[in-house]
Amino acid sequence: MTVTLAGAGSALPDRALGNDEFTHLDTSDEWIVQRTGIRQRYWLDEDGSLAGLAERACRRALADAAVAPQAIRHVIVATSTGDRVSPGMAVEVATRLGLGCPAAFDVAAGCSGFLYAVDQAIALIESGRAEHVLVCGAEALSRITDRTDRSTAVLLGDGAGAVVVSRSAGALRPQFALASDGTKIDLLYVGRQDRLLRMRGRDIYQHAVEAMTGHTRLVLKASGLGADDLALFVAHQANARIVRAVARRLEVPEEKVFLNVDRVANTSSASIPLALAQAAEENLLPSGGILGLAAFGAGLTWGAGVISW
Ligand code: ACO
Repeated sequence: MTVTLAGAGSALPDRALGNDEFTHLDTSDEWIVQRTGIRQRYWLDEDGSLAGLAERACRRALADAAVAPQAIRHVIVATSTGDRVSPGMAVEVATRLGLGCPAAFDVAAGCSGFLYAVDQAIALIESGRAEHVLVCGAEALSRITDRTDRSTAVLLGDGAGAVVVSRSAGALRPQFALASDGTKIDLLYVGRQDRLLRMRGRDIYQHAVEAMTGHTRLVLKASGLGADDLALFVAHQANARIVRAVARRLEVPEEKVFLNVDRVANTSSASIPLALAQAAEENLLPSGGILGLAAFGAGLTWGAGVISW
């Protein structure tokens, strides 16, 4: 018995904003594309429902995995920007999906939230307490974006992605390694007063490259795998330069590095499941293929994992 990702789905808001929408902030398409790889992002309308977006992503993931909704008894949503402060969004998502009364809770671990949530799902399945766990990453970062600050406004987007984590007969045991460091809270946080994201971009950049490289090496070693064994490397999509720098250090060939930050920008906890769903749509995930996952974010938190598809 092992644990695998059995399917993925995603959903984006209707409203796409190109880089030209930010020129009033003394920035340019050229600067944004060169420094980040971002060409557009999606923002929810002011009164838009993030739970509604998450519901759509989850429905698509369940269909992709061919898992009946009744088989889901655990729902985990990774988010820091839910529609309400309390209760956690997983409860509303489960109800919207008509799942009855499953265990449902949120995980807030910055942009690493999705990996933390998948790690919990794996633990539930490996301990025999669940067969399938629905894990969703959903964020409306537009709600915490200072629209007057060019150094963050151009980076952030909204969206939702979901996966079904399932027991399977495959051979690879997933390996995840997660970490945090509260001494670096000031590098990236959302304060209580203005509730807007503040970040020291260059410091985060350096930490992100080192942390994702180090932890991916750890999980590859623990699995007895090399970078060559990966079917696809899917890292948190904050900046194409960061993802490429990590892949270079790990010696993952360029064609095995998935990038969609150009299309959706940084969607925090939604980033990796959104990327997985888009990679699946593009037939880049062979059945049984081994995925390398890596993330970093506010906390600071970071982590990496290997798991089969
Ligand atoms: N347009 C034009 N100029 C800009 C912009 C902009 N949008 N933003 C910043 N600049 C300027 C800066 O003011 C600075 O000017 P100065 O040299 O006169 O002081 C100059 O560009 C260079 O700034 P740097 O911060 O050194 O630029 P860098 O190449 O590092 O790119 C970036 C900045 C894109 C933010 C990069 O550092 C990065 O991606 N960092 C990581 C961000 C991240 O991943 N955050 C974590 C996730 S966010 C979350 O958790 C939701």
